[in-house]
Amino acid sequence: MTTDQLKINDLLHQKTYLSDGKLIDWTGKTDEVFSTISSSENYQKTLLGTVPHMDKETALEVLESACHAFDKGKGLWPTMKVAERIACMENFVGKMKEQREIVVKYLMWEIGKSMPDSYKEFDRTVEYIEDTIEDYKDLDRDSAKFSKKDGVYAHIRRGPLGIVLCLGPYNYPLNETFALLIPAIIMGNTVIFKPAKHGVLLISPLLEAFKESFPAGVVNVIYGRGREVAAPIMQSGRIDVLALIGNSKSAIALQDQHPYKNRLRLVLGLEAKNPGIILPDADLDLAISECISGTLSFNGQRCTALKILYVHESIQKEFLKRFAEKVDSLKFGNPWDENVNLTPLPEPGKPEYIQGLIEDAQQKGAKIINKKGGEISENFIFPAVLFPVTKDMNVYQEEQFGPVIPVKPFSEIKEILEEIADSNYGQQVSLFGKDICELAPLIDTLVNLVCRVNLNSSCQRGPDVFPFTGRKDSAVGTLSVHDALRSFSIRTFVASKDNPYNNEILENLLHSKSSNFMSTDYLL
Ligand code: G3H
Repeated sequence: MTTDQLKINDLLHQKTYLSDGKLIDWTGKTDEVFSTISSSENYQKTLLGTVPHMDKETALEVLESACHAFDKGKGLWPTMKVAERIACMENFVGKMKEQREIVVKYLMWEIGKSMPDSYKEFDRTVEYIEDTIEDYKDLDRDSAKFSKKDGVYAHIRRGPLGIVLCLGPYNYPLNETFALLIPAIIMGNTVIFKPAKHGVLLISPLLEAFKESFPAGVVNVIYGRGREVAAPIMQSGRIDVLALIGNSKSAIALQDQHPYKNRLRLVLGLEAKNPGIILPDADLDLAISECISGTLSFNGQRCTALKILYVHESIQKEFLKRFAEKVDSLKFGNPWDENVNLTPLPEPGKPEYIQGLIEDAQQKGAKIINKKGGEISENFIFPAVLFPVTKDMNVYQEEQFGPVIPVKPFSEIKEILEEIADSNYGQQVSLFGKDICELAPLIDTLVNLVCRVNLNSSCQRGPDVFPFTGRKDSAVGTLSVHDALRSFSIRTFVASKDNPYNNEILENLLHSKSSNFMSTDYLL
């Protein structure tokens, strides 16, 4: 991308929303979208454009469109042949690829993600869609048969659940949102999708592709505030799946709106406080390098980020010295600056929030170990390495989701296991060490406290074919290319007693290919 292409020359005014297969003009109130990145020498935030500030009435009209397309399971999309749904998705991903540059540009401006990471987010999302298509074909091939037990034939497949309300997070406004949206759509559900607060304009270039690729009402896109548009949609009781990646407060608030709790399925990716444990015999070069990326890639704004480091007291001095130097050597700049590691924070109040955590920790006895730690500007605060952190500090208790690194010393590993067990979260852990006598019992316990133990490496979601989930308040359901297809569907089947009368009907159904559900064809 050239410097000229990076500039915001024209504002992007999103003047339509997608409903019932049409891009409908929005003439009501709008919200301005700002970037915390300054375009001029003297700092000022940059206006990027506007989006509709939709209201309850319009949100309910959009809901009607999704319900109409599902049509109580009778709709074109939920009853369509798998091969035809896949063809629609292939069409979509082809059109999406054409929008790579513009989406990446807005990823950088709206959420401050570095250029290489923004391209990675886009490409990873395309790969996710392509892998989903392949996995769905496999799922279909495995179902293209009959099972027989106790004289009953069964033709078992997975069917859609209904209407999905899909909400994504600002840190991966494309990838994580699509990790919900794409499996939900391809399994035959119809979807209402509200882009994240930060990372909303980058969806605009894809609206036309959604409109062109899927039948009317399958994908609907709304804008506005959660409590004004998402809450009334939930209150209607017509949502079958709440798919949300974000924080548990919003997830609970939305669930509470739904009048029929047992009908509502949940697919949730929530907050975490993944610990890094550095054992006495850890390879410090490796541990430090992984803890740098684990704590600070995308400024620590990842649910999988390492949000607390437990360092054994026998190595704490050496670890802290080298780790602090490495943190201070990281380069801060705009997303398109060369070799940049740290970038502006998209949330306007975030530097002050992080500063508050630092001050609270200092008042309770922690020190900033690195020289540049806590240096604040209009859109950033340099990561502070805080030591020693104790349980009473806010930075110990809260998911900071930003650039600050609490470090807590330990002498007995038992204490750490207790702390992890007592935590509200249970997503992943990073374990740095070598001695298998020490590692083995730790692994055996940690796998029961979290859902992924990363040996000598930072925590991460990928590769996306692996299960991504969490215990306690960290997740509901499992996401991965394969698991997501299951999360957004239910097993449903046709059963028929083995007798000549039924068997003839079954054979006719299969040979005539008149049913879209019943098929033993191998999907190429
Ligand atoms: O925000 C949480 C993301 O799922 C993290 O994904 O580990 O690929 O950065 P990542």
